[in-house]
Amino acid sequence: MTVIAISNQKGGVGKTTTSLNLGRALSYIGNRVLLIDLDFQGGLTLSCGINPDSLERTIYNALVGNEPIEDLIHNLKHFDLIPANIDLAGAEVELLNEIGRERILDETIKPIKDKYDFIIIDTPPNLGILTVNALCSADGVIIPVECKYLGLRGLSILLKTIEKLRKRIKPSLQIVGILPTMYERTAHSNEVVGELKEYFKGKIKIFNPVKKTVKFPESVVVGKSIIDYAPTSDVAKEYLNIAKEVEQWAKSHQ
Ligand SMILES: Nc1ncnc2c1ncn2[C@@H]1O[C@H](COP(=O)(O)OP(=O)(O)O)[C@@H](O)[C@H]1O
Ligand SMILES: [Mg+2]
Repeated sequence: MTVIAISNQKGGVGKTTTSLNLGRALSYIGNRVLLIDLDFQGGLTLSCGINPDSLERTIYNALVGNEPIEDLIHNLKHFDLIPANIDLAGAEVELLNEIGRERILDETIKPIKDKYDFIIIDTPPNLGILTVNALCSADGVIIPVECKYLGLRGLSILLKTIEKLRKRIKPSLQIVGILPTMYERTAHSNEVVGELKEYFKGKIKIFNPVKKTVKFPESVVVGKSIIDYAPTSDVAKEYLNIAKEVEQWAKSHQ
């Protein structure tokens, strides 16, 4: 079984979209998948068709309240979900004084790991304790990057954080790759992808980009993945291809 964190401290780069659609694509090709929403904004929860504000219990209850994680799982049609909502906003502070605070999520998910082939964790847009917990639970991290202005500086801060975690806490943490998102057929998009490939050549895999399409925001409104909302679209195929590559990565890293 493989745990993948979807991470980038920049907001609006496609983390939540990738968590849902990579997760769904992995389930489509035959894997048992659990998605964990670790963002208090509950974007992933909402994208799965669940209103975060309507929930009494979320991942917060396991992380801070020590409740059994099994009780927090929602069995959806194509995968399972552990949701989040605004309650999780308090966790950043409440977990700070816990012993072994970086490993709470890792400990928490242990009892359910063997029920799944993949656990995908969506992270908030910061490098706080929740993101650190996601990274310390993960075998691999995927970094979505918008094909717009390339923030190499922001990216290098994330990579340094990963490097530190590897040294101090989680030596086995790997970077699966950088995923360029919201790709347009413009010189600028191509420049960004080209720069990424050049800069990380031989070090970090750059996935084939996911195109920009209004189908993503549309699919959120109806609470469906792109594979279920627009199965014949290019972007559905793109996430399926990414899922196959992630499956291969998982096989070669076990
Ligand atoms: N490939 C894409 N094409 C068009 N819109 C996208 C794409 N990926 C994400 N979006 C939209 O961009 C916004 C931000 O994406 P999201 O996945 O929520 O980013 P993050 O989780 O990093 O903040 C959302 O409205 C989402 O629907
Ligand atoms: Mg998000």
